[in-house]
Amino acid sequence: MTAPATVPALDTLRAEAISALDAASDLDALLTWERAYLGPKGALTAFLRSLGNLPADQRPEAGRSANALKIELQATFSGRHADVERSAIADRLAAEALDVTLPGRPHPIGTVHPISAMIDELSDIFALMGFRTVYGPEVETGHYNFDLLNIPADHPARDVWDTMIVDTGAGGPEIVLRTHTSPMQARTMETSTPPVRVVVPGRCYRYEAQDSSHEWMVHQLEGLAVDERITMADLKGVLAELARQLFGPTRRIRFRCDFFPFVEPGVDFAVDCAICDGTGCRVCKHTGWLEMGGAGMVHPDVLRGVGYDPERYTGFAFGLGIARMVMMKYGVDDVRAFAAGDLRFLRQFASLTA
Ligand code: PHE
Repeated sequence: MTAPATVPALDTLRAEAISALDAASDLDALLTWERAYLGPKGALTAFLRSLGNLPADQRPEAGRSANALKIELQATFSGRHADVERSAIADRLAAEALDVTLPGRPHPIGTVHPISAMIDELSDIFALMGFRTVYGPEVETGHYNFDLLNIPADHPARDVWDTMIVDTGAGGPEIVLRTHTSPMQARTMETSTPPVRVVVPGRCYRYEAQDSSHEWMVHQLEGLAVDERITMADLKGVLAELARQLFGPTRRIRFRCDFFPFVEPGVDFAVDCAICDGTGCRVCKHTGWLEMGGAGMVHPDVLRGVGYDPERYTGFAFGLGIARMVMMKYGVDDVRAFAAGDLRFLRQFASLTA
């Protein structure tokens, strides 16, 4: 394969090398060229190696010419390499050009959900009355959701809460999605000593058909106060203060008898309608009153169940529907709007975002 190491052969090699170098238009092609001509297995190296085969008198000239060619090809190669590299950079800069004077793309900032905003507002109002905000599990045991609340298994009152059951409890504890925030009454009392004052906002779940006033997932806010000498008057005072903070200073509240197994006496409570000042309108369905939730004095059995002495301690508890508070305050008439994810609805509450 080795060409005879003669000066004319060198001329041919030079012509070939120069035209191949001209044709190499990118960095890959250039490196291939470098290997083919200047590399350890390249044509020029092969030529230099074969010098020994020449008659002694021809060797010096052939050697000089070959070295001169090597220097020439190296110089031409590095010039060409630099050109190709420069134009590769120029191409890339052109392709990735960025016009920094263009206006940026807007990143829309979300707003606080009206339910979350109401939870914050309620927590603030209750904090001023000395209530701590605490949170509890949404997946609950039947023990906390029912038993400790004076609703034993097989008691008909258990059916009042249409329960989503996670585990029926064959051979273990019954597990449910909590149907109300009331299980946190027992959980809180179990881990503290009076005085107890907490509010508990959170999601609750009910196996329920949806309509404009029913959702299978609802937000409640539980309230609990236990101490010596707590009376129904304290409950009234706290709820009246809540109604005034939320709906205006002239609001009045109403208690009516109601039954919940974990309170005695039990009531439902309502606030007079702020829209019509209690005279009757569309929002209060012409009753003058808006229902806020259930409440009552903590049942002695519940106190006993968590190890409190009902002779010494008394307490009140209440449960509010949080969506209802938003609906009353802003005149929303379909509870499904809160979870529907329609931004046109949600953005109307943007001003509540702190
Ligand atoms: N937990 C009750 C419900 O969801 C409401 C309630 C709470 C009633 C506290 C009385 C006391 O229906």
